[in-house]
Amino acid sequence: MGKKVTKAIFPVAGMGTRFLPATKSVPKEIMTLVDRPLVQYAIDEARAAGIKEFIFVTSRGKGALEDYFDHAPQLEQELKKKGKEELLETLKNTNMDSGEIAYIRQHRALGLGHAVWCARRLIHNEPFAVMLPDDVIAAEKPCLQQMVEAYEETGGSMVAAMEVPANKASSYGILDVDNDMGSMVSVKGMVEKPAEGTAPSNLAVIGRYILSPNIFRHLNQIKSGAGGEIQLTDAIAREIGGEGDGVYGYRFRGQRFDCGSKAGFLQATVAFGLARDDLRDDLEGYLNEIVASRKAAE
Ligand code: G1P
Repeated sequence: MGKKVTKAIFPVAGMGTRFLPATKSVPKEIMTLVDRPLVQYAIDEARAAGIKEFIFVTSRGKGALEDYFDHAPQLEQELKKKGKEELLETLKNTNMDSGEIAYIRQHRALGLGHAVWCARRLIHNEPFAVMLPDDVIAAEKPCLQQMVEAYEETGGSMVAAMEVPANKASSYGILDVDNDMGSMVSVKGMVEKPAEGTAPSNLAVIGRYILSPNIFRHLNQIKSGAGGEIQLTDAIAREIGGEGDGVYGYRFRGQRFDCGSKAGFLQATVAFGLARDDLRDDLEGYLNEIVASRKAAE
């Protein structure tokens, strides 16, 4: 049985070069899907899963992120004066109480595994979540909550998993499946960004993890892997077999958007726009119009 998961690490130190020039001055995680920054989707998902402590691994130039989660007394007063209760409510979800959030600097870009390792002193002998805000998941029950519920049964370490086309496997961590139980699989191997044609399956790791604290011990020991970086995948793989607590893949119910890519970001913008009562009709009308006019022009 898995212990309660109350802490989550959010690695947000990446430079976001794929979104230059915007990311020259705006952290990628602050870029908005409709009207909420990417990172807000991750925070909301974490809260729904029972997370109480939020640990951000940041880097130079991410100051806007810290401000985003701060209280904004002047703005709040102004909104109160104007009777804008709804906006005040929206702002409440962005505030963090003192001690609820911590920021750790990753001084050098040595990889995802290294970013997680930077937070090691804030995690004790307890399981913890890792959330990559680039992976935005639309789901009736938030993805991490689905995983926390499944984890209560399994313990060990768990990664969100999703089938990807064979020619995309080299962009992901890929699971070597031992026993396929449907929504859950037990894992006998994991490989980060396998060379084309060498992937053990097409079941890919998506950026939601519930990890055993043993992972930090492995991160202490492993050498750089794919792309010359310290890979989280390699550390998790060490939990398989032997004295490890085991690794499970969890096929979540929901739609994942890769907001680390421009195409994924645009798709997510459209999907989340269509999901909004106040925007749906206008947006749908517009989309229908452009599709029709493109068809007519063919
Ligand atoms: C990271 C992980 C990879 C995982 C992916 C999911 O890769 O290293 O295992 O499949 O996130 O989005 P990145 O996309 O940061 O290169």
